[in-house]
Amino acid sequence: MSSEEPQRLQRYLARCGVASRRACEQLIVDGRVTVNGRVSDELGAKVMPGVDAVAVDGRPVVPPAQFATLVMNKPKGVLTTMDDPQGRPTVASLVPTDRFPGLYPVGRLDGDTTGLLLFTNDGKLGNGLIHPRRHVAKRYLALVEGAPDEAQLRSLREGVLLDDGPTLPASVRVLPPREARAQAAQLDWHLRGGNRIVELAISEGRNRQVRRMLAHIGHPVVQLHRSQLGPLCLGGLEPGCWRLLTEAEVDDLRRKAEGC
Ligand code: URA
Repeated sequence: MSSEEPQRLQRYLARCGVASRRACEQLIVDGRVTVNGRVSDELGAKVMPGVDAVAVDGRPVVPPAQFATLVMNKPKGVLTTMDDPQGRPTVASLVPTDRFPGLYPVGRLDGDTTGLLLFTNDGKLGNGLIHPRRHVAKRYLALVEGAPDEAQLRSLREGVLLDDGPTLPASVRVLPPREARAQAAQLDWHLRGGNRIVELAISEGRNRQVRRMLAHIGHPVVQLHRSQLGPLCLGGLEPGCWRLLTEAEVDDLRRKAEGC
C-alpha cells in the first residue's frame, strides 16, 4: 500500500552511493546497469526503490540502511503500539517494517481515534517532534455530544484546568452545518440532531487530552479524528493506508524537531 514515487535510475544509483549522478549516467549508457535482470541503458528509465532489483556489473545495488518517515491514516480499533502482548490489532501490521526496520509511531492516538499518525525510524526526528518544548500543532475533528456555546469555546481557547494541570491556549471552532455534514460523510460519522463537530488545534500531547478538554466543558467526544500534525495532512489517504513523506516534508519536520 505504498505510494512511494518511482525514481530516475541515475538518481537512484547515486542515492545508493554507487557514484556521482553524472558517473551513474555514464554507467547506464555504457550498458552496465540492469533492472530486474535486463540491461537498462536509457537515461529516462525509472525504478521503484525497494521493489525493482537493480545491479551494476552484475552486483546488486542495495539502498543504504535508510531513514524512513511516513504518515498513516490510523483506522479505528487499532492500537498505537508495535507489539501488544495480548495480541490485539496494532499499527505494526499496517506499516512496512520489513522494508524499513525500526519504524515506530511518533506520539500516539487512542484505540478509538482515527487519523494522522506519523512513523519514523529516525530517533532524533521522532524525539524532537514529541519534545514538550517544541509545541508542534495537532489538529483534531471531534464529534461531540450536544452543542458547545461561545463561553465554553472561549474557555478552551484560553485554557482549562485538567487534573494534570492547565492546558495551553487552543484554537477551536464549531463547524457550520454544511461543513459538518461534509466532514461527517467523509469520516463515516453519524451526525445526530443536537450534536456538533468541533475542530480543535492544540500544541501539547498529553494523554487523552482532547477527550478530557471536551468532557471538561460538558461535551464528551463521540468520535475523534486527527487531521493534521504540524505541516502534514492526510491528503486523501484511506484508513489503514500510508505514504512516505517527500524529502521537502521531512526537511520541514526536521526544522520543527530542531526548534527552528
Ligand atoms: N487526544 C485524545 O483525547 N485522544 C487522542 O487519541 C489524541 C488526542
